[in-house]
Amino acid sequence: MKTSADCGPLLDVGAERARTPGSQAAHHFNAAGSALPTTRVVDSVVEHLLLEQTHGGYEAAAMVIDDLEAVYSSAARLVGATPAEIALFDSATTGLRAVVDALRLSRADRLLMSRSTYVSHALHLASLARERRVELLVVRNGPDGGIDLGHLDDLLASGRAGTRTVVCLAHIPTSSGLVEPVAAVGELAARHGATYVLDATQSVGHLRVDVATLQCDALVTTGRKFLRAPRGTGFAYVSAALTAELAPAAPDVRGAHWTGDLDWELSPTARRFESWEASIAGRLGLGAALAESLERGVDRSEEHLVAMAESLRHDLDALPRVQVQDPPAARSGIVTFTVEGTPARQVVTELAAHRVRTVSVPATHAQWDLGHRGLDAVVRASLHVYNDAADQHALLEAVAALPAVEPAA
Ligand SMILES: Cc1ncc(COP(=O)(O)O)c(C=O)c1O
Repeated sequence: MKTSADCGPLLDVGAERARTPGSQAAHHFNAAGSALPTTRVVDSVVEHLLLEQTHGGYEAAAMVIDDLEAVYSSAARLVGATPAEIALFDSATTGLRAVVDALRLSRADRLLMSRSTYVSHALHLASLARERRVELLVVRNGPDGGIDLGHLDDLLASGRAGTRTVVCLAHIPTSSGLVEPVAAVGELAARHGATYVLDATQSVGHLRVDVATLQCDALVTTGRKFLRAPRGTGFAYVSAALTAELAPAAPDVRGAHWTGDLDWELSPTARRFESWEASIAGRLGLGAALAESLERGVDRSEEHLVAMAESLRHDLDALPRVQVQDPPAARSGIVTFTVEGTPARQVVTELAAHRVRTVSVPATHAQWDLGHRGLDAVVRASLHVYNDAADQHALLEAVAALPAVEPAA
């Protein structure tokens, strides 16, 4: 059993709040949308914009070349990869698109997807199924609400030789606090020779993520959520073996060297998937956020988020009309609930009047999960290291103060 001694002193929430000005302004429960950044992250962005103002964008970028390289090494350290296996993107969706399009899936291939799949990934992959006749199967869920490993194993075993099977799932979905059994999925994918693409958008910076343990071939994540980086940032891990196998569907001057009329050479690293143009200020902000995440220690963040979310679920459950909607396998800092008689969007508006920031996640963002469970929307409260007991108290008070529902005539 892990003790607090294993991950050093417990998280210092007061210090986290002190370096997060936004934590004083409201009770921010939207890390899963976009978390509050620290002063250091914002300063690094602003400083670079000022450098661009004085020197010009290309010249300013040349002045911070070492800091930009450090973004790759920090991202690699955080997920247990090498810097050559990291590619920077403006979002998780762009990263996933670059990797999946490079797979050039065709009629013979199969996509095995979890119910936890994010809307934009589901629609991208469903359009591959529709247009290229790739077979797409949504794997059943087990009784704990996570992917049914037995069903996945059966589907993987039924693959035809010589075809590619891609397993794609979200570590934590947008629509609940579920944590998928991602290491067990990796074991199955490796055993059956499938390509494993993990959407770790809601988990990097939140839970321990190690690509070797998870045995994933590619992983995508975003900056603005649990990493607390600026918007418009993200990165992907693509294993050295998969990188060597794949050419980007649209080679870009960033990752390709145009050597002759119709000849080009690809970067040997995952940067072959990148695009030239990017916000350098945003990337430096991502670098600062990655450094802070490493300094803080992901185990320490995970411990705080999981424990606080568990206590929030417990306390919400005790309130009249409130139903916690997380499945039994929820073990993350995301909590979802509904309030009988009050639509999720209205709950969010009412809570905002108490300076409590939550969001409503509609079924149109998670058809394979919320739609399948017959929920048209849930309220999502997502925590981070700057959330304290006073925030939790404010959220519970605001939910308890929701106007009563008039009984039907
Ligand atoms: C599980 C999950 N995957 C992917 C994404 C998309 O991330 P991005 O907007 O950076 O592409 C989200 C965004 O909410 C998400 O919740």
